[in-house]
Amino acid sequence: MEPEDLLPIGEVTRRTGVAASALHFYEQLGLIASTRTPGNQRRYRRHMLRRISLVVVAKRIGIPLSEVQDLFRTLPLDDPPSHADWRRVAKLWRAQLEERRTQLEHLQRELTGCIGCGCLSLKACRLLNPEDALGEDGPGPRRI
Ligand code: FES
Repeated sequence: MEPEDLLPIGEVTRRTGVAASALHFYEQLGLIASTRTPGNQRRYRRHMLRRISLVVVAKRIGIPLSEVQDLFRTLPLDDPPSHADWRRVAKLWRAQLEERRTQLEHLQRELTGCIGCGCLSLKACRLLNPEDALGEDGPGPRRI
């Protein structure tokens, strides 16, 4: 490995826009890794910039860090993610965004039904009782 492949933390924060404290946190989570100089300073391999970029994108689209952790366990830590890796990640996140969009549309429809109601009923209001699967069949007892 060439010395220029190892970046000091200041360079990584400058190039990614991610604060040093956040980089330390990502490292604790195992999302990225660093090595130490003989003087005990952190150095990041150049390809960590890509992993950090993926974390930035994930945060931007609302993917929880725990899910990023799960996903990163499938990516090599010692090598940069390949284009195939990136395609796989992008496909997965696109599907998650689509699912979230569908959920938001569903919530929007339910909220529209609540406008002007204001009952905030724990039994009748779907926003307050989202697990009420039987309620989709209508009001009243469903299991008799
Ligand atoms: S507030 Fe009445 S149904 Fe939601």
